[in-house]
Amino acid sequence: MDRIVVHRSGPLAGEVDVPGAKNSVLKLMVASLYAEGTHELTNVPAISDVDTMGSLLGALGVDVSHDLHRADVLLLTNRGDVKSIAPSELVETIRASINLLGPLLACKGHVRLDMPGGDDFGTRPIDMHIAGLTAMGAEFDLSHGNIEARADNLHGAHITLDFPSVGATENILTAAVHANGETIIENAAREPEVADLCDLLVEMGAQISGIGSSTLTIVGVERGSLKPVQHAVVPDRIQAATYLAATAVAGGDVIVRGARAHDMQVLLSRMNDMGLDITAVPGGVRIVSEGRMRAVDIQTLPYPGLATDYKPLLVTMLAVAEGSGIVTENLYPGRFRYVEELSKLGADIRTDGHHAIVRGVERLRGAAVVAPDIRAGAALVVAGLAAEGRTVISGIEHIDRGYDNLVGRLVALGAVVERVDMAVS
Ligand code: UD1
Repeated sequence: MDRIVVHRSGPLAGEVDVPGAKNSVLKLMVASLYAEGTHELTNVPAISDVDTMGSLLGALGVDVSHDLHRADVLLLTNRGDVKSIAPSELVETIRASINLLGPLLACKGHVRLDMPGGDDFGTRPIDMHIAGLTAMGAEFDLSHGNIEARADNLHGAHITLDFPSVGATENILTAAVHANGETIIENAAREPEVADLCDLLVEMGAQISGIGSSTLTIVGVERGSLKPVQHAVVPDRIQAATYLAATAVAGGDVIVRGARAHDMQVLLSRMNDMGLDITAVPGGVRIVSEGRMRAVDIQTLPYPGLATDYKPLLVTMLAVAEGSGIVTENLYPGRFRYVEELSKLGADIRTDGHHAIVRGVERLRGAAVVAPDIRAGAALVVAGLAAEGRTVISGIEHIDRGYDNLVGRLVALGAVVERVDMAVS
């Protein structure tokens, strides 16, 4: 089993580019179900979730392959015979398999899949997905641990979400693409990845307005009228944040190429509040980190608030900042599991329900830790850059699900990090 071994590093210097977003590409891949022919996605990250989604789509009738000459290009060929029953072993691996619901209902009027897997942040209900699709005429059967839905004729509906759920917004809007009439989603999620999916669907021929706002209006178009297109995946703001956090704790002067300051505004201003010098530069974001950061209080919120996926990185930064910060998690109460691992490195963190108090320490110390999920795994790598001695991270298959060459990119900035096969070392 591979491990990532990190030594205290810094200052970091140079430039790093940001690949496309996991939370966008997986949904863009699913959009290939709408149109026969070959779809082309560019800026695709080399992550294992893309491979898993590729296999899942393969089983449903879309052949997915990498372009032989361009590593970031994915070709998806819909053979025109899409199936509506997803294989369990693949569905259980990734959360984004829930995103099959809307497109398969829209294109086939039927879908069956197991409850999807993904990161374990505690319970991840899908009641808003079901309520929205039911309002559009779908009928669900949730017996036997399956999700099965049928809809002979989906129709438009006026749906107000209780909470701007990313997944529920995406499933409702993708179902509405071929529904009869107009669907309005109020309190829709506004994440850049949701907007990226809307943009792709519009390029394919769907009618969606209000993209990027909290009210989306979708007017259904005929089945079979969408066309394959070429589309570049939006840059990954969470991977971008990871290189900013790495520079923040290790010190240095780094430009994160492809990072969109506009999509990361709240995070960047919080990092400025911590004493980091963050500026938008043409084509990216520059961070200069000198001296010790100051602690701030943070709370996670739906976009444009501070993303819950940034939180493990921010907690790691607070762990070595001067002073104490209160962290409030408003999306996933269970999302503090990695705190135990950071504590093994000497971080002083107390949790209580969905709050944590992080008291900054001057130095972390290396230890063996386990990555509990994608972002927390990356945060442990970042923490290792600020820890004396050697930090050995196992469970890195989680990191591989969402990070494209994290180790190589950090090494290029001057970090002392390596990926080691423990069986042969
Ligand atoms: C997506 C992202 C994930 C990110 C999250 C929030 C993907 C593959 N994953 O997850 O990385 O952390 O957005 O930004 O894109 N909820 C309900 N009922 C529902 C749906 C959601 O109660 O029907 C709750 C969830 O439990 C959670 C909150 O709403 O507390 C946000 O969930 P949601 O925005 O749907 O997240 P995901 O789409 O699962």
